[in-house]
Amino acid sequence: MTLETSVNTHTHPGQATRPTVLMCRPEHFTVSYRINPWMHPEDPTDTSLAVKQWTTLYNTYVDLGFTVHLIESIPGLPDMVYAANGGFVLDGIAYGAQFHYPERQPEGPAYMEWFRAQGLDVREPESTNEGEGDFLLVGDTILAASGFRSDTSSHQEIANIYSREVVSLQLVNPSYYHLDTALAVIDETTIAYLPSAFDEASLSILRERYPEAIIATEEDAAFLGLNSFSDGHNVVIAERATTFARDLADRGYNPIGVDLSELLLGGGGVKCCTLELRA
Ligand code: ARG
Repeated sequence: MTLETSVNTHTHPGQATRPTVLMCRPEHFTVSYRINPWMHPEDPTDTSLAVKQWTTLYNTYVDLGFTVHLIESIPGLPDMVYAANGGFVLDGIAYGAQFHYPERQPEGPAYMEWFRAQGLDVREPESTNEGEGDFLLVGDTILAASGFRSDTSSHQEIANIYSREVVSLQLVNPSYYHLDTALAVIDETTIAYLPSAFDEASLSILRERYPEAIIATEEDAAFLGLNSFSDGHNVVIAERATTFARDLADRGYNPIGVDLSELLLGGGGVKCCTLELRA
């Protein structure tokens, strides 16, 4: 079977593409360990509610015309639902993940096996990195973060693999431990971000490169509102992120709110559940 991947057909910002994404149904979701401040293993979780909310996200993507692939969830890997961390896929090459915390380490090979089965060119990681959690493509540039999960050495590794410009950013707030919790890619030239999640040097870079960026509020970020997925026009976001929704609508985008409150208990939202597969 060959993998159908997204072809970027952008001609101007604001035009919808039809991405191809990978998701993982949260059949084994729970919070049994604590590797980010959102997780409280002592509190109960509801796996069937997680599946129900996740299914709404899945159906939203299907209705938008996305191609959605699924990877089988593995018992004992409750965070596998956060598919964004499973790797980074661009140019038909899959750069595998090497997770920071032992609890998630078996996910790396599981995702690489899936990529291989789809005929992708898989590159085994040498550096610790958590895939699209910390690497985001904006136009032709890869924004790469470290601070809590991915090592800075992975920024060089990804630059070597894709021969793209890689911009290193430093995260400073443990609640926004992955880049995709602090920064959203809206289209090829537009991003949204939470300034307080970055160090001063990173902020200067972001301000200079993206002077028109949407600046997120602390309130919206606290629902992981930035953890969103855009096709260039439709932006799927946490439904509680109301200021972000209004800012997107003001600029001509179509925000679509979904409720993933159960998956927020693991510290993840819309984007975390979504790994883009790019041709
Ligand atoms: N519990 C998971 C972790 O801490 C959540 C991952 C969220 N994923 C993301 N792309 N931000 O690793």
